[in-house]
Amino acid sequence: MPPLSESAAKSRVKELREIVSHHNRLYYDKDAPEISDLEFDSLLRELADLEKAHPDLLEEGSPTQAVGGRPLEEFAPAKHIVPMQSLDNTYSPDEVREFVNRIQKLAENRRIHFTIEPKVDGVAISLLYENGQLVRAATRGDGTTGDDVTQNVMTIANIPHRLHDTPPDQVEIRGEIYLPKSVFEQLNQERDEEGLPAFANPRNAAAGSLKQLDPAIAARRKLAAVFYGTGAWSGDLPPSGHDVFAMMKKWGLPVSEKILEAGDSDSVIEAIREMGEMRHGFVYDTDGAVIKLDNLSLRREFGSTSKAPRWAIAYKYEPERAQTKLLDITVQVGRTGVLTPVAELLPVFVSGSTVARATLHNEEEIQRKDLRIGDTVLIEKAGEVIPAVVEALKERRDGSEKIFHMPSTCPSCGSGVHKEGVAWKCTSHSCHAQIRRRIEYFASRQAMDIEGLGEALVGQLVDAGLLQSISDIYTLKKDALLALERMGEKSASNLLTAIDESRSRPLWRLLNGLGIPHVGVTSARDLAQHFHTLDALASATEESLLAIHSIGDVMAAAIHKWFQNPQNLSLVESLRNHALNFGESDEARTPSDNRLANTTWVLTGTLSISREEASEIIRRLGGKVTGSVSKKTTHVLAGEEAGSKLEKARELGIPILDESAFRELCGA
Ligand code: IVH
Repeated sequence: MPPLSESAAKSRVKELREIVSHHNRLYYDKDAPEISDLEFDSLLRELADLEKAHPDLLEEGSPTQAVGGRPLEEFAPAKHIVPMQSLDNTYSPDEVREFVNRIQKLAENRRIHFTIEPKVDGVAISLLYENGQLVRAATRGDGTTGDDVTQNVMTIANIPHRLHDTPPDQVEIRGEIYLPKSVFEQLNQERDEEGLPAFANPRNAAAGSLKQLDPAIAARRKLAAVFYGTGAWSGDLPPSGHDVFAMMKKWGLPVSEKILEAGDSDSVIEAIREMGEMRHGFVYDTDGAVIKLDNLSLRREFGSTSKAPRWAIAYKYEPERAQTKLLDITVQVGRTGVLTPVAELLPVFVSGSTVARATLHNEEEIQRKDLRIGDTVLIEKAGEVIPAVVEALKERRDGSEKIFHMPSTCPSCGSGVHKEGVAWKCTSHSCHAQIRRRIEYFASRQAMDIEGLGEALVGQLVDAGLLQSISDIYTLKKDALLALERMGEKSASNLLTAIDESRSRPLWRLLNGLGIPHVGVTSARDLAQHFHTLDALASATEESLLAIHSIGDVMAAAIHKWFQNPQNLSLVESLRNHALNFGESDEARTPSDNRLANTTWVLTGTLSISREEASEIIRRLGGKVTGSVSKKTTHVLAGEEAGSKLEKARELGIPILDESAFRELCGA
């Protein structure tokens, strides 16, 4: 390309900065990238090249200068000792039989034996342990060199920092990092409610989290890991893959939940079928079964092609899908007023349960898929849990299908609607559906956890005029409850006790229950931890909110605005009058945030805060502080002029954090 003129370069730089920042926000804050990494890289490179050719245009705020830029070039490269290979894939049972026959032939008369394991749909990881100590964690990358993601992996609760027993001096452990299916479900529910685009599957969500440069953000995502093999291994290998699993288990590593065994092609096919049924009950998402020859000396003998071992193959399950009729599209009003279109389906059985409804997320999604009422549609479960409409079978149309339009007024209260992001929203604050949803959410397990106050009862109470706002919950009287249908003496007393008990819930539950736009469980915990009381939060400036790591522009503005609204302030006052805990009684509680559980710290050198303060932060988050570095130490916090303890930590390969990394990890 010919060089651009100075003015053309200036306007292109401005444009690129906006585009890149936009995609950065989508990627980091929303975990919903709209372009591929490749496209992103090329935009960033174009910007960097232009800035290089026109140095006067270079500015500090440019995304090319940002510390938290894309991780791709930010993580240090990590070369695997033994490269990470991939697997040959097949959807065909016949090809699996051919694989077994091939192995049988290669083995000649020697006895062979296979394991059949779940193929976990996560992000591949290699952990390097030296003298039992986790010293490095790396993604697969190109198979030879990956990204060093040690700090993020250290925050994953089921990955041991030290192995038990007597592992080899040096061993590479191979496995997958995943987001548990249940966490994925909750995350997407929150995103729908907030009008944010949903994650397509748990793997994308896990990959996004692991690629966070900031370990503190990665730590909050509740990632987990499972291991199925090894790379480098100093000393003698055991005879079989089976033994390797047993050893990994003994060392304290989580391994696959179910490993089946088979000796010939019929039993391999049967085991694949069995795994296909069991996999729906696993905590992680799976997309296949991996068939491996068990004997390690035969594995070595048969070797690999340039990309995959000859001794293993992956059988991929077709995603389970079902055909059914899209009977109608209804519109649900959420607690923040977001209108969510929902597919009403002719009930159909798929991946273990009957599906009659599926969220269609938003209007654009319906248009993109061109779904029409009356269509025959394909259904599957995203991440094996959430029912989703994949597509319409257009060839099955007979002309009677109807195009869906979002209503121009709120289907619950008739007020006007307006668009925010991808979502249409009801503009009224007194909309009945919103009130119902707000109260349901306030009472739910994720918020104030009021047992017995579920959807049905909230509906009854709202219809009876007994609940018009959240604070009315605390004015409910026994006589009024007893007048409701199906409400007995005992249930009424239990409910009133549960309501009473909820007054002393920790502050984060109240914050989450209030319905502040964009605030969910995680951010509510962060806000409570940072501000301690509701009053401190209510008077916080946008700047002080932004100082919290996980709070971005949008959330800071939303929180600030929420506390300016007189209606919200009167709700807060009313809750205060009902003696709810506004944070004052949280201090004595056990830590709700246990992100440093099972960690043992040693502090050394001079910090900007006192050692006692730093120790208090660690203890509050569930960690332990000790005086000297030993094999039990999992982390060292090193300030200025740290001396011998730092040396010793280096020798033992213990992760060392400086003060700013420590603050990020702890959100302090
Ligand atoms: S064995 C040399 N076992 O699937 C063979 N891989 O598509 C190494 N995977 O690269 C892989 N579950 O990231 C193996 N039980 C399992 C697996 C598994 C998931 C991943 C792994 C592999 C990819 C191949």
